[in-house]
Amino acid sequence: ARKFFVGGNWKMNGTVSSVKELVKTLNDAKLDSNAEVVVAPPSLHLLLVREQLRKDIAVASQNVYDKPNGAFTGEISVSQLQDSNISWTILGHSERRTILGETDEVVASKTKYATDNGISVIWCCGESLEVREAGDTVSVVTKQLDALKAKIGTDDWSKIVIAYEPIWAIGTGKVATTEQAQEVHAAIRKWLKESVSQKAADETRILYGGSVSEKNCKDLSKQTDIDGFLVGGASLKPAFVDIINANQ
Ligand code: 13P
Repeated sequence: ARKFFVGGNWKMNGTVSSVKELVKTLNDAKLDSNAEVVVAPPSLHLLLVREQLRKDIAVASQNVYDKPNGAFTGEISVSQLQDSNISWTILGHSERRTILGETDEVVASKTKYATDNGISVIWCCGESLEVREAGDTVSVVTKQLDALKAKIGTDDWSKIVIAYEPIWAIGTGKVATTEQAQEVHAAIRKWLKESVSQKAADETRILYGGSVSEKNCKDLSKQTDIDGFLVGGASLKPAFVDIINANQ
């Protein structure tokens, strides 16, 4: 069985004091021991969070570069993450794809570099509203997956968690219906089986992201192919604890 997984993407939010408060909320909370939890603070707060947060919650960066250390102003490296006990990163978030201009190939290359060097990746995909309305959701997501596979190959997907995040549902309060989410998750799992391996299809967690809240998480978590969540706005609030415990 796939372990239920909840990620909190804090995006570009928080101050030293609000981050400390959020860490205290998580440290004091009673969390489902069957859930794997990862939080992704902004780079500036990674070290503070890793030092103060309970050790059964892992910490992720929101980006990482695909080269060793060196003259790459503004970037952080895989070895810097490891040196600070940061074991995960988020790659391919739609905000980085659309606002920062990262292509499928750039995202795939970063994912390859991170996983080859021991960092686990929450790899994000998802369609725009325009694509959904044109009925092209599965083909767009498949294209994103194909670009990833072109770099990763089919051998080892154990360091990858896939997050399906429809762009029209991110930060909008407009959550995908359980049927809409399950349909795409099932298509991703079918792609894993046909294009990677039966093992990858059986073992890879597929998360849903986009306006997940303490109210809608239980129904979503009951869907066969939804193995957890990538949470934005609600991960900054005590409600995140209820989402972690959604599968109890
Ligand atoms: P919201 O939960 O705020 O919609 O954000 C989702 C997201 O982008 C997580 O990566």
